[in-house]
Amino acid sequence: MKRISTLELIPGMTIAEDVLSFNRQLVMSKGTVLNDNLITRLDLYGILTVYVEDAPPPISVTPTTLDLNQTVSYKERVQNSPEFQKFKEDYERNLGSFKDAMNQMAQRNLDLDVDGLLKDILGMVSIGSSWPGVLDMLQNMKDFDDSTFTHSMNVGLISNVLAKWLKLTPAQVEMATACGLFHDIGKLKIPHAIITKPGKLDAKEYAQIQRHPILGYQMLQQQKVDDHIRNAALMHHERSDGSGYPMRLSGNQIDPYARIVAIADIYDAMTAPRVYRGPLCPFRVIEMFEKEGFQKYDVEFLLIFLENVVNTYLQTPCRLNDNREGTIVFVNKEKLSRPTVQCGSNYVNLMNFPDLQIQDIL
Ligand SMILES: [Fe+2]
Ligand SMILES: [Fe+2]
Repeated sequence: MKRISTLELIPGMTIAEDVLSFNRQLVMSKGTVLNDNLITRLDLYGILTVYVEDAPPPISVTPTTLDLNQTVSYKERVQNSPEFQKFKEDYERNLGSFKDAMNQMAQRNLDLDVDGLLKDILGMVSIGSSWPGVLDMLQNMKDFDDSTFTHSMNVGLISNVLAKWLKLTPAQVEMATACGLFHDIGKLKIPHAIITKPGKLDAKEYAQIQRHPILGYQMLQQQKVDDHIRNAALMHHERSDGSGYPMRLSGNQIDPYARIVAIADIYDAMTAPRVYRGPLCPFRVIEMFEKEGFQKYDVEFLLIFLENVVNTYLQTPCRLNDNREGTIVFVNKEKLSRPTVQCGSNYVNLMNFPDLQIQDIL
């Protein structure tokens, strides 16, 4: 048996020890054979590492190949757009200055230039093109690198998008962006070797990683920043049902900005590419949130987030899991992961076909 990061899990692997949430509730039993949905479920619970059996997983079958081919074609459409080219340039440039500023603060205790960093990031999303949206473009930056810095920038950008969808004021949208940007700042105080360790984290190392919300809060206490920014660093792993950490807060005890960041944080993790596939189809992510997310995240925020994510895919070609191709024509509000898809002259309402699902966006 070995302990590995959830990012390295592959369908077919077997869970070797019961997986427990932070408050010791059973998330997955020993002996469970993993599939794509179960791996994504571990993300939803914020599980970072698990024990798996040593035996190699069986060779995976066709859906993996389909996934990859289809992701590439969607990728190409986004990547060829002039909006994406500009976004990519800005992203690379801003990532450099963000990295420098964060490192200087962590290592030399220098003042954090929140306004300067925020201005760069807001510049990336100021020209609100209808397509591709920021989430689409971020999805295509996923093979960039997997550091705390890219993740933090992504969470800042996703929090910005969500705050706009929540119709917050411009000042509140900026605050949400800043909260996302600095939420994992405490990870900079954790030895680099632990953060980037490819396999086997021992219990001590794991406990150290889970200190990052408190470490972040302490770092930000020495900075002239708004309380919401400190609270988002401290509370983004808290969950509405009290199952999070470090203080097991619940519901309204959690700062509203931390509740926004928590959704952005988990969405970035769930859409991350795995070793065996490209980024996950957004409808699979939505389905996972629908199954288990509403007790853990702010219901109102989550519903608005998911509704808007789904709306960006209206009139988009897709492939169903029975290999039929069609276009997403109607969103079912009661079940966002199951819209109506027009296949030729047939309107397939996925609400009525539990076995069918959207496999990929084309
Ligand atoms: Fe975190
Ligand atoms: Fe995070």
